[in-house]
Amino acid sequence: AHQWQGVIREYADRLPAHVQQTIVTLGEGGTPLVAAPALSARTGADVWVKVEGMNPTGSFKDRGMTTAISAAAGRGAKAVVCASTGNTSASAAAYATRAGMTCAVLVPDGKIAMGKLSQAIAHGALLLQVDGNFDDCLVAARKLAEAYPVELVNSVNPDRIEGQKTAAFEIVDALGDAPDIHALPVGNAGNITAYRKGFVEYAESGAASKAPAMWGFQAAGAAPLVKGFPIDEPETIATAIRIGKPASWDQAIAARDESGGVIEAVTDEQILAAHRILSAEVGVFVEPASAAGVAGILARAEAGLVPAGSRIVVTVTGHGLKDPSWALRTPDGGDVVPTRVSADVVSIADVLGLE
Ligand code: F0G
Repeated sequence: AHQWQGVIREYADRLPAHVQQTIVTLGEGGTPLVAAPALSARTGADVWVKVEGMNPTGSFKDRGMTTAISAAAGRGAKAVVCASTGNTSASAAAYATRAGMTCAVLVPDGKIAMGKLSQAIAHGALLLQVDGNFDDCLVAARKLAEAYPVELVNSVNPDRIEGQKTAAFEIVDALGDAPDIHALPVGNAGNITAYRKGFVEYAESGAASKAPAMWGFQAAGAAPLVKGFPIDEPETIATAIRIGKPASWDQAIAARDESGGVIEAVTDEQILAAHRILSAEVGVFVEPASAAGVAGILARAEAGLVPAGSRIVVTVTGHGLKDPSWALRTPDGGDVVPTRVSADVVSIADVLGLE
């Protein structure tokens, strides 16, 4: 019987040798590419979602963490550090503990989802809540790694990009060719950089006939790449992408321009509406930031900017259980109140409208 071996072993021939000497894996990758008829109907395109919440720690970060931690282990590293809005810290904590390393994480105080905080603590990370936002955390983490014996595992580490590019390979392997368009949320811009690299490598080697247009979406209150300048105080309910100074700025712009793509903003309302459609109609529960790509293609479809019949893959980046409270809100901001019944079959049938 075959079991998925994790992205390093599955794509060994497309990854650098230095990540393969000491492999630290939790079986990441091999995530479902799910047809989304509800989104196809709304856009007139052929829409699929790449469900990255199905990775071991519930986000796409695991693809890059297996390579970053494996490379660090190969060099004999004892400790790693990252700045994070939550998912990177959860992933770094899990892979570091697996490798027997110490992991320090710097997170913005009070602005990270409960599920992610719990994961970092459960996996034994040294969690520091910083009086500042993600961008402040990243500056501090970079300086710490420069001055002390601790390796940085944010996506500015090229080993992260190598691992994350495997998601593009999986999409092409599943569909038989690259889609026309690939949509995704953009925060620190590591993932758009990684997908672009993966799609280009497959196209250049003949494994795909083309590379897709990259459509990146930022939250309106945290959209530096759309505005063209850094945002000092980014704000959005999509805390995973509450980032004002993306580290991979130039790479994101290059991915957009070289692929004939776009980077646009979606409002928190559009993100929450897309989040609801994903759960209630597609059957895929994601955290709010992960719905930004879907919000983006819906907005573009409404503006008549989605080519009819085009094939679109939208990457949904993190699991809904990371930040589940949003599901218990009504569209107008109220609380969902569960219906109470007595433990009696007739009253239950009555409430259900059964006769
Ligand atoms: N979606 C989710 C769920 C994320 O956690 C992130 C980034 C992104 C999208 C954006 O990806 O930064 O590569 O452009 N989260 C980072 C973290 C910043 O610390 O977990 P990006």
